[in-house]
Amino acid sequence: MNMKESLRLDTPYVLDDHLGDHRLTRADLTDLEPQVRTILKEIASERKHGKHRFRDLPQLRLQVGEIKELVTDYRPSTDNMLVLGIGGSALGNIALQTALNSPVYNLLPDDRRRGPRLFVLDNVDPIACEAVFQYAGWDWSRTLVNVISKSGETAETSAQFLIVRDRLIKALGEKAARERIVVTTDAAQGTMRSIVQQEKYRSLTVPDGVGGRFSVLSPVGLFSAAMCGIDIEALLAGAASMDEPVSDTHPAENIAARIAMIHYLYEQRGKPMHVMMSYSQQLKDLADWYRQLYAESLGKIRPNDGKCVGPTPIKALGATDQHSQVQLYREGPNDKVFTFLQVDNFPNDPRIPRAFDGIEAMQYLGRSEKGTLGGLLNAEKTATELALLASQRPSLTVHFPRVNEHTVGQFLYLYEAVIPIMGKLYGIDPYDQPAVELGKRLTFHFMGRKGYEEPPKEIGKQP
Ligand code: PA5
Repeated sequence: MNMKESLRLDTPYVLDDHLGDHRLTRADLTDLEPQVRTILKEIASERKHGKHRFRDLPQLRLQVGEIKELVTDYRPSTDNMLVLGIGGSALGNIALQTALNSPVYNLLPDDRRRGPRLFVLDNVDPIACEAVFQYAGWDWSRTLVNVISKSGETAETSAQFLIVRDRLIKALGEKAARERIVVTTDAAQGTMRSIVQQEKYRSLTVPDGVGGRFSVLSPVGLFSAAMCGIDIEALLAGAASMDEPVSDTHPAENIAARIAMIHYLYEQRGKPMHVMMSYSQQLKDLADWYRQLYAESLGKIRPNDGKCVGPTPIKALGATDQHSQVQLYREGPNDKVFTFLQVDNFPNDPRIPRAFDGIEAMQYLGRSEKGTLGGLLNAEKTATELALLASQRPSLTVHFPRVNEHTVGQFLYLYEAVIPIMGKLYGIDPYDQPAVELGKRLTFHFMGRKGYEEPPKEIGKQP
């Protein structure tokens, strides 16, 4: 088995004649290429001046040594790991775990798991949180808590931290409680860093100049992955192997530029809905990670003309959503472009048995050469792709030769690399998220934080 097999992008159903007016032509793409070539050169030059820092994470391998030390120190004494974080401080961790550990990982007995059970609490839902706290609370001494917050100021994460710390102290006392907390935050700024210094917690660093949604390949995503047995070296090597292909300044040869051009052109032509439909349960949370990456990076007011721009990313799961969404996708508004994630080889692929002679509705499944669950899943993917084509709905496919650290690392790096290209096409800054601030300030107001006694002025302007 070649672990180094690479992701492949297939785009025939973007150019196909059956799409009629909904197809892109080669000329559409070549007309955009000069602009994208300039953009790719700009990005290359800006990288040399310290911009787009996430692009260097796989090569820099920041704190990989410290992460391994923490794993050596904590794994033997840890049955449950709680990650407290939200948004970019959680979605990468979840995506890695879903993609690279068994779907029933947390249910496995200790000797069948590669590390502790993992719970990523990316919400403040009281029922969900309390259930996990009570589960971990059966033995807080064998629970490790990783608090992740770049800003160190996020209300949801702070609230979880305060509760968990309190429970740890009540169960174990101040000193032992302190030893069960590892904080991942900014090197110097923010409340969490001050608390780390005050409490002498062990800590990791969110790299400077790397926003939350671009931080999965930093200690933010790597620590919980390594604790749970994921090969972070292979993950980083996979990501690093994508650097050259997405640095090519010839747009037609650059896989990130091809995705950016197709998505941009379709968004400009009345298809702002960008559905990522994974035909793999393992990859479904990569689609969730992609959703944040596109939404927070590209949904912006363009400074030049004040226009609201950006595609709406949507996640879907095949074959499940064929029985839920595909009716809309084929006959609803033709305002979508689809990206399928397809796995070419499933290492464990149960054969469907032949049974019930004479009952064709059962027989064909076991008789078919493709008669495995993976064969059926991929047949359904092709069926959906062609059914969408018949309704003039364009799609592209990212093929995973198999799902492993190498290909998942490649995928993360690839989609991150798409973002600055699209940011420049739209004329927006993909690295900020000004629109989420108002809600945060209002929350501080409702929760009585000092300095936020008055509701933010912007609210007064609302009709
Ligand atoms: O991508 C982002 O920047 C955001 O989603 C943040 O990750 C999220 O708001 C959490 O912020 P923090 O890590 O500062 O707690």
